[in-house]
Amino acid sequence: MSHYDKHVFFCLNRRDDGRASCAEHRAEALQVYAKDRVKALGLSGPGKVRINKAGCLDRCEHGPVAVVYPEAVWYTFVDEQDIDEIVESHLRDGKVVERLKID
Ligand code: FES
Repeated sequence: MSHYDKHVFFCLNRRDDGRASCAEHRAEALQVYAKDRVKALGLSGPGKVRINKAGCLDRCEHGPVAVVYPEAVWYTFVDEQDIDEIVESHLRDGKVVERLKID
C-alpha cells in the first residue's frame, strides 16, 4: 500500500539560459499555496496527500506543471483559482480536473 493516497510533484525549475521554465510562471508561489490549502483542508499527511517540490519534469513547454500520483495525471495552472480546483476536486474529491489536464 502506498504511503500517501496522492503524491503531487510541482516542477519549480528555474533556468537562466533563456529557455522556458516553470519558475517563470509563479510555480514556487503556487506550490506553497497548494501546500497551504491541502493543510488547511486537513488533507495532508500519511494516507492522505503530500505536496512536494521537484526539479524539471521535462514537460517545460506546458509549464508550470504538476503531476499527481498514483494516477499520473498531469496539470498546468495559472493562478490560485486553478490550484483551488485541483485541490478540492482531484485531491479531496477524487475527480480529475479535465480543463487543466495535459496529456
Ligand atoms: S522546467 Fe518545469 S517541466 Fe521543465
